[in-house]
Amino acid sequence: MSVLDLGIDLGTANIIISAGRGGAVLNEPTVIAYDRNSERVVAFGTEAYKMIGRAPEHIAVIRPLRDGVISDNDMAQELIRLCILKVIGKKLINPRIVMCVPSGITAVERKAVVESAVSAGARTVYLIEEPVAALLGAGEDIMRPFGRMVVDIGGGTSDVAVTSLGGIVAANSVKKAGNAFNASIQRYFEDNKRILIGERMAEEAKINCGNMFWPSGEKCGVVSGRSLISGLPARCEISEDDICRAITDDVDAIIAAIRTVFEMTPPELVGDIYEHGILLTGGGALLRGLDMYITREFGVKTFVADDPLGCVARGTNIAFKVRDKLRNGFEKVRA
Ligand SMILES: Nc1ncnc2c1ncn2[C@@H]1O[C@H](COP(=O)(O)OP(=O)(O)OP(=O)(O)O)[C@@H](O)[C@H]1O
Ligand SMILES: [Mg+2]
Repeated sequence: MSVLDLGIDLGTANIIISAGRGGAVLNEPTVIAYDRNSERVVAFGTEAYKMIGRAPEHIAVIRPLRDGVISDNDMAQELIRLCILKVIGKKLINPRIVMCVPSGITAVERKAVVESAVSAGARTVYLIEEPVAALLGAGEDIMRPFGRMVVDIGGGTSDVAVTSLGGIVAANSVKKAGNAFNASIQRYFEDNKRILIGERMAEEAKINCGNMFWPSGEKCGVVSGRSLISGLPARCEISEDDICRAITDDVDAIIAAIRTVFEMTPPELVGDIYEHGILLTGGGALLRGLDMYITREFGVKTFVADDPLGCVARGTNIAFKVRDKLRNGFEKVRA
C-alpha cells in the first residue's frame, strides 16, 4: 500500500482517509475531546465519540463541524492533523492530499483546513467537491457527455448535483441530513411521548427503526430517557411509523432540493438521468426505503451506491488519476 497519496473525506459526522488503491486506512467520527484544565486534547474519533453526553465538566467533547460548517476552527485543524499523523505515523513521508470539505464552509475556513494538512506534512493539497468525489467513488464515469445525478446525504448536509463531461452542471445543498434527522426524532419524542432522549439514542432509533416507504406501526424497539412528566427515568416503545413521521419534513426538504436541481438542469441531461437513475451516497442513503420514496416522488429509478459511507473517501483517491480531466469541482490549493 502506498501512503504517498491520501484522500480525505472531512465529513460532519465521519472523517475517512483512503490511501493507495482507495482502501480506507482511517475511519473515525468527527469528534475531539479537550481537557480544559490541562489544555490538552485527550481523545479523538471513536474514543471521543464514546464520551458524548458522558464527560465530566472539565472535558469538552466537541464536534468541530456542525451542520456542514466549521464551528470550531482550532479543534477542526487539530483533528485533521491528528488523523493524518495517525495514518502516516512517524514515517518521513510528505503525502499529496486530495480533500473533500463541506460545501458550506467559507474561504477562510477552507484555508485553515488546508493549513492543518500542511502542518501534518502534506506536500500538495487539492480540494474536491463532495458530489464529484461521491460519483467517482461510486464507480460512475463522469467524463462522458452524459448527465449523472447524485444525492449525497451526510451528517450535516445533503448535496445534490448533476455532472456531465467531468464538471458540475447544476447543484444545490440543504442543511437537512443525518444530524437533523436525529434532532427531529428527539423533538418528536419530546412533543408526542413526553420523553427526553439523547442524541445517540435518537441515532440508534433511526438506524434500527427508520423506514420511509410503507413504515409499519408495529413495535420495533424501545428508547429510554427522562420523562418530562415525572422527571424520572422512562422508556417508550417505538415503531417505524414514529421515526417516519419524525423525519418526513426533513426528507421532504431534500426532495425539494432535488426538484430545484432538476429545474436547473438542461433537458438533454434530465433525459439521461431518467434513463440512468439517481445515485444515493453518504450515510443517509442507508435509511431504509429512502430510495423508493424518491422513486415515488419523481418517477425516476433511484439506487444506493455500494458502501455509500465510503464513496466520497474512495472518490478523493480516484481523483488523483483523473485530475487532468476534471473541469470544475477540483482545484489545487497548495503546491
Ligand atoms: N443505517 C443508517 N440509516 C440511516 N442513517 C444512517 C445509517 N448509517 C449511518 N447513517 C447516518 O449517516 C450520517 C453520516 O454519513 P456520512 O459519513 O456520509 O456523513 P459526513 O460525510 O460525515 O457528513 P457531511 O457530508 O454532511 O459533512 C450520520 O448522520 C448517520 O446517522
Ligand atoms: Mg460527506
